Amino acid sequence: MKRLPETGAGGRVFAEMEPDATVEPARRRRGLDLTSVRSAYGRYANFYDLVFGALFEPGRLAAVRSTNTRHGQRILEVGVGTGLSLPSYRADARVVGIDVSPEMLRLAHERVASEALGHVEALHEMDAQEMSFADDSFDAVVAMYTVSVVPDLERMFAEMRRVCVPGGDIVVVNHFATGGFLTGLVEGVMSPLSSLIGFQPDLREQAVVALADIEVQETRKISIIGNRKLIRFRNEHPTG
Ligand SMILES: C[S@@+](CC[C@H](N)C(=O)[O-])C[C@H]1O[C@@H](n2cnc3c(N)ncnc32)[C@H](O)[C@@H]1O
Repeated sequence: MKRLPETGAGGRVFAEMEPDATVEPARRRRGLDLTSVRSAYGRYANFYDLVFGALFEPGRLAAVRSTNTRHGQRILEVGVGTGLSLPSYRADARVVGIDVSPEMLRLAHERVASEALGHVEALHEMDAQEMSFADDSFDAVVAMYTVSVVPDLERMFAEMRRVCVPGGDIVVVNHFATGGFLTGLVEGVMSPLSSLIGFQPDLREQAVVALADIEVQETRKISIIGNRKLIRFRNEHPTG
C-alpha cells in the first residue's frame, strides 16, 4: 500500500492508496488514439473556452501557482489547448506549450498575440508521447486536464520526466473517477465512448500515480464537489 501526502483544509493528512485494478484500463485507454483525440478537439475548439473556461479555471490557477514558484523558470505545459492558463504565469517565466490539435493551438496563438504574453516562448504542435525536446530542457512540467486525454499515459510520463530536470516539479491537475455508485455508473457508461468524447471518464488517481512512477510530493483537492485534484510529483529521470 502506498501512502500519499494529502494537504486538506485542516493541514497535512495522509490518504491511503490501495493498488487496484484501475491501472490496466488506464494503460489500455479503450479506443483513445491521436486521430480520435485530434478529431474530438477539432470539434470542441470553437466552444471550448465557453464550456470549460470558467469551470476548470480554479484547477488551472492552482497548477500554475504550484509550478511557477521561482524567478526565471522555463516551464513546459503539455496539452496547452486554447492557452487559457497562459496569462496566469509570472512575467519572468519562459513558457513553452505543446498540443496535438491545430485548432486548439490556433486559438492559443491568437490569445498570446491579443494579450501580448511576452513570457510565452513558443507553442508547438507536438505529441506529448514523443517530444522533440532535449533531456533536461525544462525546470518544471505541467499538464492540466490532459492526463485523461493523452492515449498512452506511461509514455507521456516517461517523456515529461525525460525533458524535466531531475528534482523539478511535474504537476498534474485533472478530474478523477470517484468510485461512487452513481458517478461510477455514469463513468462506466461513458467509458466505451472515449474515442468519441476524447477523454477517459473513469481514470483513477491511483492509476495516474502508478503509471507516473515517481515520488508524489503533494495531492490536493481543487473542487469541493466532485473529484478534481492537483498532484505534484518530484521528478526523477526514467531508467532504461
Ligand atoms: C481537456 S483539454 C485541456 C486543455 C487545457 N490544458 C485546459 O486546461 O483547458 C486536453 C488537451 O490535450 C491535448 N492533447 C491530447 N493528446 C495530446 C498529446 N498526445 N500530446 C499533446 N497534447 C495532447 C488536446 O488536443 C487538448 O487540447
